[in-house]
Formats: sequence, C-alpha cells, structure tokens
Amino acid sequence: MQGVEEDESYTLEVTPELAALHAPTVVGVLRGLETLLQLGLVDGKSYSFQAAVIDDKPRFPWRGLLIDVGRHFEPVEVIKRNLDGMAAAKMNVFHWHLSEDQGFRVESKRFPKLQELGSDGQFYTQDQVRDVVAYARDRGVRVVPEFDMPGHVTAWLVGYPELAAGRGPYQIIRKFGVFDGTFDPTREEVYQFLDTFLGEMAGLFPDAYMHIGGDENNGKQWSANPAIVAFRKEHGLADNHALQAYFNRRLLQILTKHGKKMVGWDEIFHPDLPKDIVVQSWRGADSLGTGARQGYLGILSSGYYLDHIDPASSHYEVDPVPADSGLSDAEAARILGGEACMWGEHVTPESIDSRIWPRAGA
Ligand code: ACM
Repeated sequence: MQGVEEDESYTLEVTPELAALHAPTVVGVLRGLETLLQLGLVDGKSYSFQAAVIDDKPRFPWRGLLIDVGRHFEPVEVIKRNLDGMAAAKMNVFHWHLSEDQGFRVESKRFPKLQELGSDGQFYTQDQVRDVVAYARDRGVRVVPEFDMPGHVTAWLVGYPELAAGRGPYQIIRKFGVFDGTFDPTREEVYQFLDTFLGEMAGLFPDAYMHIGGDENNGKQWSANPAIVAFRKEHGLADNHALQAYFNRRLLQILTKHGKKMVGWDEIFHPDLPKDIVVQSWRGADSLGTGARQGYLGILSSGYYLDHIDPASSHYEVDPVPADSGLSDAEAARILGGEACMWGEHVTPESIDSRIWPRAGA
C-alpha cells in the first residue's frame, strides 16, 4: 500500500565522464531522471547535460493536484497527460475528485445505478481506473480518490434516493453551487451502503488514503427532517457540525476496516475525531496551523486554487509552512504539503490543460 512515507530522495552527479544517479527507491530514481532531463541541452545537432552535483529530496511528502471530474467529465487521455505533467514537476499525489452533485464518475459493480443514473454515461470503468492507477504509479504518483459526502451527493441520490436526508426524487444537477441533497447520517442502511461501496473502492484504489470530502454540507435537509433533529438531541449532539462529526466517526470506522486512512476538507475538523485523519485546508492557512497545533495532519490548498486563474506569482507566495508560522518542528512536520486544485465548473477536456499548466508547477 502506498502512503506518505515513500523515500523520494536521490543524488545525481553529472561530470564530463558520466552521469551517476543513486536512489534508495524506484520513485527516487524517477525524480532523479526528471532532474537529468531538465539538465539536458539540445542545440539542434547534438545534446549534452550540464555538469552538476545534486543531493535532493522533497521538502514535503504530499505535493498534489486535484482534478474535479464531477462538474465536467475528463476522459482518461486528459488524466494521463496531466499525470505526465505532474511527473515532470515532481508532484506525487493525484487527488481524483470523482463524485459531485453534477456527476458520479466511477463504475460500481455493487451499486450500478450510481453510474447508470448519475453520470450521463460519462464515467470511468473499473478497468480504466486500474489503468490510470498503474500509469500514475509508473510515474511515482499516488492516486487518492475522493467521494465527497455527506453533501455534494445529489448524483448518488438519483439512483439511490433512500440514502438522502430529504425526500426525492433527485436529478443530476445542471448548474453550479451548493445544493441541499445530503446523506441521512441517522440510518444504519446508509452506513451499510457506504461500507459495501467504500469496500469495493478500497479494492480498486491501492493508496493508503481515501478522501471523504466533507465540505459545504449546508445542513438544510438535516434541520428540516424531524427524525434527524430528534436523533441529534437523543445523542447529545449540539448542532449539525457535531452530527457531521458523528457521521465522520462512523465513516472512519468503515475506512479503517477496509485498511484506509481518512482525508477530508476543513469541515471534518472536530475534537471528536482522532488525530490520524488528514485535514485538507481550503478555507485558509490559519486552520492548518490550528490543526497542526492540536495534533492533526494537514494539507494546504487555500491559495492554490487553479480555477481562480490567479498569476503564478501569487501561488509562489503561499507556503504550507511559512517562515513566520510559529509552529514547532514537530507541529510543522504534521503539515504534509499542499495540493493545487483544478475545480471543474468552467473547464472542458479542451481547456483544462491551459488552466493547470504551467501554474501548477509554481
Ligand atoms: C471546496 O472548495 N469546497 C473544497
């Protein structure tokens, strides 16, 4: 199983006589070969390499790119050419945002109505997923799938409205924003469904981590459902955030059973959750530092939203652990790195590369 402990270090020595690359792992060799390529000089008649002595390892173990294929589907060839780009930039985590209100993008054999009714026919087969995971692995890139829940799930509810906190029927959402469709966190059938589904996906995605989203649950369906309000009171849960923490604790049990660690957006942060979850911060670097001080692992994405079309210089200025962070070494070590996010509202297979590159390199 792949995880953050991968050793990516290498040494490279280029002299007039030879180029020597040493690394303790295959991934380290891949990183060194990328550096060697960048030292290449071509003048039209011959090629050479600049002489250099390089002793390199990444500052952060998590250097990711999120691609949202929920809002607009991106075919396998688009994913693969962006994995090539990631390898060239020595990025090592492809965060595949696979489900949204606007589309459910992966084949489930256990719950086929997910893709049959939730995708307009635009989804990855399990063979395609295995192919992408292998392609990424060959480039030293881990694939972390995201199944965003309990909000952002309308496309699941088209085929399985019984999972919802509100009354159906549901249709694939055809516009952008935050919508009400939400899982019911009080019913055991929902957890049985998620156990089976996430177990199936755990077999498809070999990485140690699985992302459960958790962002932008507006809580409207929960507050409007008397049975859910009563459940909250019975369980002493102060508000919908506490109810979502209950949902996340149940999810964590399921992920743990299937051998996976949990990643989620800022909103999963809650004192009721154990310290080995990873919080991905999209709302600001402050929450990352707060989490790290309290013992949580974190990834920074605030400041790295590629869909905002900010200049590369603005991304260079954002650092997961800035010099003035005030964090101790142990706290800073909990910040695993960063992820650039390519949200898919306004991109197509034709335009997405121009949004990702070259700024993701920054
Ligand atoms: C997010 O931008 N809602 C993660």
